[in-house]
Amino acid sequence: MSQHKVVVNTDVKQGTINKNIYGHFAEHLGRCIYEGFWVGEDSSIPNTNGIRNDVVEALKNINIPVLRWPGGCFADEYHWKDGVGPRENRKRMVNTHWGGVIENNHFGTHEFMMLCDMLETEPYICGNVGSGTIQEMSEWVEYMTFDGESPMANWRQENGREESWPLTYFGVGNENWGCGGNMRPQYYADLYRRFQTYVRNYGDNKIYRIAGGPNVDDYNWTEVLMREATDFMDGLSLHYYTIPGDFWLGKGSATDFPEDEWAITMQKAYHIQELIEKHSTIMDKYDPEKRVGLIIDEWGTWFDVEEGTNPGFLYQQNTIRDALVAGVSLNIFNDHNDRVQMANIAQTINVLQSMILTDEEKMILTPTYHVFEMYKVHQDAEKVALDLETDTLKAGDKEMPQITASASQNKEGKYHISLCNVDKDNEAEVTIDWRGAGLANVNGRVLTADEIDAHNTFENPDNIKPVEYQDFQVNDNQLTLQLPAKSVVVLSVEE
Ligand code: AHR
Repeated sequence: MSQHKVVVNTDVKQGTINKNIYGHFAEHLGRCIYEGFWVGEDSSIPNTNGIRNDVVEALKNINIPVLRWPGGCFADEYHWKDGVGPRENRKRMVNTHWGGVIENNHFGTHEFMMLCDMLETEPYICGNVGSGTIQEMSEWVEYMTFDGESPMANWRQENGREESWPLTYFGVGNENWGCGGNMRPQYYADLYRRFQTYVRNYGDNKIYRIAGGPNVDDYNWTEVLMREATDFMDGLSLHYYTIPGDFWLGKGSATDFPEDEWAITMQKAYHIQELIEKHSTIMDKYDPEKRVGLIIDEWGTWFDVEEGTNPGFLYQQNTIRDALVAGVSLNIFNDHNDRVQMANIAQTINVLQSMILTDEEKMILTPTYHVFEMYKVHQDAEKVALDLETDTLKAGDKEMPQITASASQNKEGKYHISLCNVDKDNEAEVTIDWRGAGLANVNGRVLTADEIDAHNTFENPDNIKPVEYQDFQVNDNQLTLQLPAKSVVVLSVEE
């Protein structure tokens, strides 16, 4: 069995792991909003004011800190005024970007804010720069956040909501280098400065403005935006998807994939580390204090859609491979907590790397859901210094670490360490030197599977779920773990 070494220095703290790293994204795309969250008040599926009770209950269990909406590419075609007022009068439009289906606007601002209340999560709204106007964006913020008398606040009250909603996170456009207007960075930087001017802070409400950032490794975009607009932003977004194949020629199947695609997928998941570090280096030049957050507001796996489903709906299954991608990515985000202030996996229900899949009244939890549930202990915890010596694995001509780990201490003083073994075939022995604190009451859970494509189905919903982990020994201040192949483990430790 391969040997790996971790040193945890419990007395060296490295800042808070922002809970928003565990954020989510929900777009008007396929069956995420409609069927996933929203079934309508008259549905036979148990719901509260139109929102499914089962998904709310499941999502509350992973402590969603922040939810991004309404897109995605949809955001730059969305006109919020179509989605308020009596539902029967709302405009029906075509969702041109995602499957050309009719969007009846039954889920709009009021419904989204109600969902956030139910989930006890913070809203993150993405405004329309690509096809919208400054006035439209400005009035949306007024509608949501102005308390007192104003045209938009009055209209909100007529539509049934007396109080303004607290709103912190607001994105000024989405992917403006692509579906959000095909702009060049200088042009978007100027537009960003202009649009954000009218995203007002009303009363005590203080908006955290997020500028539309680069695609993957477009470092020039980051350079131009930071050079031209640092003083006008609180966050800069970054989008990166883990795609084993080619985006246009074939991304690869979520379940039916060749053995060598496992390592390629893991290596591509690890690639986000290089992206964070290189974009951060540019940001450091213009923002050495690290005031501006890197907001990874779209990430996760992107495979070919499941056979027989609408290609515009991006519906994919979710296996133990997705669980490892989630575990690796979240460990990397934790590790870069000095710059990464938020991340939003795409997309909560029935789209891309979801937490939940639904089939009419049925609902299943994915392996990725279980990773978010296991890792929730890191939310707002203090990062603890950790050194790792591990073997490298090969993926084609690239290399990656076999083990990844992240440690934190929560407000109650408990430590947690999350570890992933990305090797699909081999167990790993990990020795952890636990320095600066006692090693008591060690408990753990593990998520693993025998097959590389193991997943949950509506017929077998509990095929993969975390179980108690006991494969470790404690010896004074040293812990020795046997990590199964393709596993995610989270341990809790008391002093
Ligand atoms: O998440 C799916 C799509 O991916 C989003 O709408 C877009 O922003 C990105 O290209």
